[in-house]
Amino acid sequence: MTAKTMEELVSLCKRRGFIFQSNDIYGGVKGLYDYGPMGVELKNNLKQSWWKSMIYERDDIEGLDATILTSPDVLKYSGHEDTFSDPLVDCKSCKARWRTDQLEDTSCPSCKSKDLTEPRPFNLMFKTAIGPVDDGSSFAYLRPETAQQIFTNFKNILTSTNQTIPFGIAQIGKSFRNEITPRNFIFRVREFEQMELEFFVDPGKDESWHKYWIDSRYNWWINQGIDKKNLELLVVEKSELSHYSKSTVDIMYKYPHGKEELEGIANRTDFDLGSHTKNQEEFNIKAKVMKNDKSTTKLAVLNLENKTWTIPFVIEPSAGVDRGVLAILNESYKEEKVDENNSRVLLTLKPHLSPIKAAVIPLKKNNEEIVSAAKNIKKILQKLGLGRVALENSGNIAKSYRRHDEIGTPICITVDFETLEDKTVTVRDRDTMQQKRLGPEDLINYYKDCFN
Ligand code: GAP
Repeated sequence: MTAKTMEELVSLCKRRGFIFQSNDIYGGVKGLYDYGPMGVELKNNLKQSWWKSMIYERDDIEGLDATILTSPDVLKYSGHEDTFSDPLVDCKSCKARWRTDQLEDTSCPSCKSKDLTEPRPFNLMFKTAIGPVDDGSSFAYLRPETAQQIFTNFKNILTSTNQTIPFGIAQIGKSFRNEITPRNFIFRVREFEQMELEFFVDPGKDESWHKYWIDSRYNWWINQGIDKKNLELLVVEKSELSHYSKSTVDIMYKYPHGKEELEGIANRTDFDLGSHTKNQEEFNIKAKVMKNDKSTTKLAVLNLENKTWTIPFVIEPSAGVDRGVLAILNESYKEEKVDENNSRVLLTLKPHLSPIKAAVIPLKKNNEEIVSAAKNIKKILQKLGLGRVALENSGNIAKSYRRHDEIGTPICITVDFETLEDKTVTVRDRDTMQQKRLGPEDLINYYKDCFN
């Protein structure tokens, strides 16, 4: 079961400290959200799972953390200055602004008027001044995708590591887009995070690598707890492709508001390295690129077999962190009956994603011995380094269970009078609600096993 409506998710997120409207106390700003204590843990766990699968579990991908502020040159030659725009119309009656694809039968969705301006391109990039003078002569863009600085660092990474083609560069970080109509909670926002891999391959081997990464990324989402029946692979139509793409397959997820893109896997050909390289005429660049006289670096590799310099092709799996968080929250949301009169909400998150790995709950809030034994167990489990372990000293076991069900804590550990005598504790499983009594060694093994 998933959430029935987006409202259920929004309400849970606020109630339990996952996600808040940003700048809320001043009325909020559309398209901006803050991640609270539970949200930041969930988001970090998702990013860490991606990073592990990309960098630690393989040997052909390197990591990068490049700047957000980006030189206009980079985004000129990447094509973003010219093409990164949405067609926009204004409603002359109610003054609302819409992307053309949002119009309802050529009418304003808000007031239904047909009195609209002609569509005109609206560039989605944010700009900011660099240096003390704000006269427009020195500025940077806030990057609209993390990918571009991967391409500009291609040579740095190639020469500072032992990588040869095929290899990849992975990066997680913020991107910014001045979306005309941000909506659907954290689905379409103006400040968001991306997890992007640029995987460089020999031209000619691009199509088989493209297929490989589509399969690999689809399976990764399933391993994060997403049910296959809520996923779909969509081949993007030629007319809908981004300016850099030869072919793109989107991983679509069934969000509460409809089936939409969670991740895109694009074959970017030699467009990006070809756009940013110096001496473009030396290479047989297949993509249509803008002439570049400014770049100082050749972005090519030496083919050891035929001793020629080639610009690699790029396969790019690009996932939205926020869209991932939304999909995972939706997927794990459950409401179930506990008995005749009571029901509970719970998040059946995969343990590696749970914001809190275990909650240690003293039976009596003010009993020093019990609280001290609970603190000690928290410390031991925390030291195992598997994530956040919380001491939950509310004094109300039922309330604590309810709270931890709702934030997806897989294990609750209750410390009581018996613990003081024989060191055993009660362990409660989130999903089955079954309880058992475990001694110290068994507790540690049980806890570790939960995350293997
Ligand atoms: N580098 C390629 C690229 O940026 P994209 O399809 O524009 O491609 C990739 O974006 C992913 O980033 C999307 O699949 C989505 O998950 C996420 N994303 C894009 N725009 C977003 C927005 N306004 N809010 C939240 N996530 C967004």
